Amino acid sequence: MTTISPQPLAGSYDPAATTSGGLRGELARLEAQADLSFPEELRILHDLGLDPADGPLVEVGAGSGAVTRRLRSAHPELPLTAVDIDGDLLSHAAGCGAELLVADATALPLPDACAGYVLLRYVLQHLSDPLPALTEALRILRPGGRLIITEVDAACWGLADPAYPELASIHGKLAAAQQSAGGDRTIGRRLTRLLRTAGCTDVVLRPFATTNDDRPTADFAPHLGPGRLQPLVASGVLSLSEFALAADRWNRFRNDPDAYVMLLGFTAAGTAPATH
Ligand SMILES: C[S@@+](CC[C@H](N)C(=O)[O-])C[C@H]1O[C@@H](n2cnc3c(N)ncnc32)[C@H](O)[C@@H]1O
Repeated sequence: MTTISPQPLAGSYDPAATTSGGLRGELARLEAQADLSFPEELRILHDLGLDPADGPLVEVGAGSGAVTRRLRSAHPELPLTAVDIDGDLLSHAAGCGAELLVADATALPLPDACAGYVLLRYVLQHLSDPLPALTEALRILRPGGRLIITEVDAACWGLADPAYPELASIHGKLAAAQQSAGGDRTIGRRLTRLLRTAGCTDVVLRPFATTNDDRPTADFAPHLGPGRLQPLVASGVLSLSEFALAADRWNRFRNDPDAYVMLLGFTAAGTAPATH
């Protein structure tokens, strides 16, 4: 693993305070999250024309390598580079067959026009200003290369049936906490505009849905369970009774054989122009 310089952690992401169980809990959450939606995300990458011969693919903000490992399994011949500002987190990607670089998304230690693809998955929502990271991604892309972003938008996260409107204010507090730390859980609606502003051409949006049609409702715990809320109790944003309410509704939901959940994600992609 190459560390370019000691990187201060920035933005709204703290892996030790994102879910219950500290860093170990977050490593499990990242794996479970990737497990849930990677098949859909890979289908979109194929629709966008992912071709191992056009690599390397540079994954910026790769974290523990949950998606890097899955990309390696799906395409053993695709050269991969995984970059993250957090060297401790990135060390968990060791052995996944990617070159590992500890660096900031806005100062990648890679030459101009060296990559065929740059992927940022659930990273921009943690940056106070996503544009410099996109500009830097375009710098390392060859003309014609693809810049691919996967994100969420809290206002259209999906649906749960039955719904629990009494949880709306709790989820609002989660979004507000991320916002006040410099992040944006409503970044989904800005993706195509950000790609155009950065200078991409051929910008497209590909929403995707993950449902419990073909997997147990319990698998959705990383998104719907109370784990994400526990650090907010520790920091005083949520009360214990709000946490207990969320835990109770999640238990009801996952034990309801008729419960239905549909999570929405958004992949946006643009092409690096001939001169940039
Ligand atoms: C929610 S995690 C997503 C990790 C991974 N992309 C995944 O989907 O499993 C966000 C990641 O972005 C990284 N990150 C945040 N700000 C960054 C920056 N300025 N430069 C590089 N990585 C950054 C964090 O360290 C973290 O690994």
